[in-house]
Amino acid sequence: MKIKMSLTIKFYLIIVSSLIFAIGISILISNFMLSKYYIVQREKKIKNIAVTLQEIDVNSAFKDEFEKLKNKNDINILFLNKVPDFIAENSMLQIMMALSYVTKDEIKRVYNGEIILKKEYSVITSRNEIIVLTKTKNGIILALTSSIASVKEYVNTVIRFGIFTGIIALILTIFINGFFVKKILFPLKKLKEIAEKMAKLDFSDKFDIETGDEIEEFGKTFNYLSNELEFNLTKIKSVSEKLTLEIKKEKEIERKRKEFIGNVSHELKTPIALIMAYSEGLKDNVAIVEDRNYYCDVISSEAKKMDNLVKELLGLMKIEKEEKKLKFEKIKIRDIIKKTIKKFDFDLKELGVKLKCSKNQNNDYIVMADIVKIEQVLDNLISNAINNVNKNGIISIDVLEKNSKIEIEIYNSGSHIPADKIDEIWEPFVKLDKSRNRKYGGTGLGLSIVKGIIKIHNSEIKVENIDNGVKFSFFLEMA
Ligand SMILES: Nc1ncnc2c1ncn2[C@@H]1O[C@H](COP(=O)(O)OP(=O)(O)OP(=O)(O)O)[C@@H](O)[C@H]1O
Ligand SMILES: [Mg+2]
Repeated sequence: MKIKMSLTIKFYLIIVSSLIFAIGISILISNFMLSKYYIVQREKKIKNIAVTLQEIDVNSAFKDEFEKLKNKNDINILFLNKVPDFIAENSMLQIMMALSYVTKDEIKRVYNGEIILKKEYSVITSRNEIIVLTKTKNGIILALTSSIASVKEYVNTVIRFGIFTGIIALILTIFINGFFVKKILFPLKKLKEIAEKMAKLDFSDKFDIETGDEIEEFGKTFNYLSNELEFNLTKIKSVSEKLTLEIKKEKEIERKRKEFIGNVSHELKTPIALIMAYSEGLKDNVAIVEDRNYYCDVISSEAKKMDNLVKELLGLMKIEKEEKKLKFEKIKIRDIIKKTIKKFDFDLKELGVKLKCSKNQNNDYIVMADIVKIEQVLDNLISNAINNVNKNGIISIDVLEKNSKIEIEIYNSGSHIPADKIDEIWEPFVKLDKSRNRKYGGTGLGLSIVKGIIKIHNSEIKVENIDNGVKFSFFLEMA
């Protein structure tokens, strides 16, 4: 099983283990080599002292020097043949002790100026000792001794001290390195945070730490990667958004097309069925002579309806293309309104509706428009007003000048158009009140045609529910 470990812990483990390894190795080396090395060094040193002593007259003038030599080098000096006066100890005992370290042969060799070095167990001190035999300038034979046991003790102390200082060094290293490890690892942590955000498509965070090493280089590459990703993803996003929008539009167009065909078929179904039924009746001579006239009337009126529908449909289809064919001319708006109202005189009287025209009507506003098309617009809006006005209600037509344009408003009292349906009325075949519509036999194409005509006049038409009624308004350019 793989153990998951953070970089901090790994760093610590490497530092601590290498430190422990280094301390361990130095203790091991000290343990095995230090005593040997130290003994060799001691031997060398004592031998050197022996060489120096060969050149010196050891007498009372040498007393202080002698003591210093002993203390400084931690050695004992014994006299073999002659004990100088400055030695306070019993001279016989001195000689006896000294003799225990040497053989006759060695004394002879020392007399001849040789320096002898040996390691031996001393019965006097009960220790292994380094012994160096030498002769002074004034013929005194000396045995310089140093205990090896004291060397071992020294080495053990050194090792113990080494362990102690090692532990302190270890603790200090852990603390000090903790600081450095954190400092080194902080940028890596930052990189990790940035990467995690990038995975969530958040590219706002950037690497901005100056470390002056490979991590900084890596951070810069990371920033570049993040920028590139952000740029490309935004591009992809906007392309895919556009695509989704286009697909939605396509679907909407397709839906409208199907709905339109459905509506046309539906509108044609009833007149076709009636024409079929009545013509069959005529053919079979089902009806009596008087009824035949009625049959013919029905057939002709239904055929008229179909003709109307087809004409309106063709008109609606053509509007966009007709933009270029528009015949703009100066029109006295008052005249066309008057002309249109006249067509509906009979209906208005029958309904008992009051028709009000604004005072401004007297002003001879002249607009630039296609007279045939604007007549069609007024026809539809006024007929809509008549078809939707309440009994004994009011219809008012106003012509106003606003921002050097002419606004035409057609208002009828009556019920409001439901707010959630108000935007739909411009769509083909939309008839909100089916029963009312059946009475006057509208196709629901009127307002789509009106909207199209106003659009090709570079204007817009609005509808509002106001003061217990509905108001349609549109602008035309002043001539
Ligand atoms: N002044 C109005 N007040 C209330 N509702 C209206 C008014 N004008 C139009 N509408 C609603 O909008 C629908 C669409 O009107 P539009 O003129 O397009 O068709 P229509 O009048 O029913 O038939 P067509 O005009 O083709 O003979 C109407 O059926 C009616 O429900
Ligand atoms: Mg209409």
